[in-house]
Amino acid sequence: MFDVDAVRARFSAFEGDFAFFDAPGGTQVPDEVAAAVAWNYREASGNLGAPYDTSQRIESVVDEAREKSAVFLGASSEEITFGANMTSLNFTLSRTVGRTLSPKDEIVVTALDHDANVAPWLELARDKDLVVRQVGILDDTTLDYAELEGLLNSRTRVVAFPYASNALGTTVDAGRVCQLAHEAGALAWVDAVQYAPHLPIDVKAIDADVLLCSSYKFCGPHLGIAYGRREVIESWRPYKARPSGDRPVGHRFETGTLPYELLSALVATFDYLDAIGGVEQVVAWERTLGERFLAELPEDTRLYGSPSMEGRVPTFLLNYEGIPSAELSVALAKEGFGVWSGDNYYALALYDRLSWNDALRVGIAHYNTLEEVGRLNETLSALVRRARA
Ligand SMILES: Cc1ncc(COP(=O)(O)O)c(C=O)c1O
Repeated sequence: MFDVDAVRARFSAFEGDFAFFDAPGGTQVPDEVAAAVAWNYREASGNLGAPYDTSQRIESVVDEAREKSAVFLGASSEEITFGANMTSLNFTLSRTVGRTLSPKDEIVVTALDHDANVAPWLELARDKDLVVRQVGILDDTTLDYAELEGLLNSRTRVVAFPYASNALGTTVDAGRVCQLAHEAGALAWVDAVQYAPHLPIDVKAIDADVLLCSSYKFCGPHLGIAYGRREVIESWRPYKARPSGDRPVGHRFETGTLPYELLSALVATFDYLDAIGGVEQVVAWERTLGERFLAELPEDTRLYGSPSMEGRVPTFLLNYEGIPSAELSVALAKEGFGVWSGDNYYALALYDRLSWNDALRVGIAHYNTLEEVGRLNETLSALVRRARA
């Protein structure tokens, strides 16, 4: 059984009674990750390449961050690129692959995507006269794989899709999409930001060409991580300063000086995840929490996305007819619960398709407890009852 109390003891953030259900926006961070930032400033300051200890420590931090990121994703360390966040990395990498594309080449995106995996392609399409096509979803919010097959053709160069929706939690069969992309001769480009905190990733098993995630969604620093298949990214010409090194190959897409303090924090994040058994260990526990949450929701909850824990991560979008979600999230905050209210959650196509107007997003992370979930459901039910009275 997952020892959630032992996990929580590593976080100062959990010393009070406030219950954080805002993980899809960014998780809480264990103290050891915060301490690693301070360690870096105290003992590994300066820059890479100098012949003394503090500089050499930075070199070890960068190497270790690359190695541990590679293990986390099932990649090799040369295939890792760090960036400010997923969005920045995606603009960089999409512009880079754009150098290989020709007018009328096609990019496929999906209706499940966060705009960080759509806007870079739309902007590239403007600059390079490309065509961007969008695959829709079925009524159960799963990707329309048949439509995807129909859209693919000899001009398709990239299929960009999310591994899990940041709004609904709906997951995508990434292996299937990568295979379809490859059969059409296109690159498979995966946004794994919402998937990475909840389910293990193996880029080789799904056969991704590019996969991106953000460590602040899994108890780490605000930092983006990208995997790029070596044979693919080796063939790209990077936008880089000329003296900046060419090895490892993933480094060619990192511009300027990396945030070493955040890379120290990232190493500590992977050590934390290893210490609690890895993402593999959180799956069953998050499922138990998600099932409890779904089972005890107020009766007239409108839930968008899968009504069970099948085909989803524990990110839930819901609202109540006639009750503004913002009112509920403010009232929940006063009662000690961190739950977001918002409109499109950057999932613009989903927002158009499902028209939820405004909705609460409840995100469960491995550090949540059954007691917190029970308390949230009770409080939410009481608030909804009061609003209806
Ligand atoms: C699915 C998904 N993709 C991309 C992003 C953007 O990530 P970042 O904030 O690292 O740019 C987010 C952020 O919430 C997300 O949930």
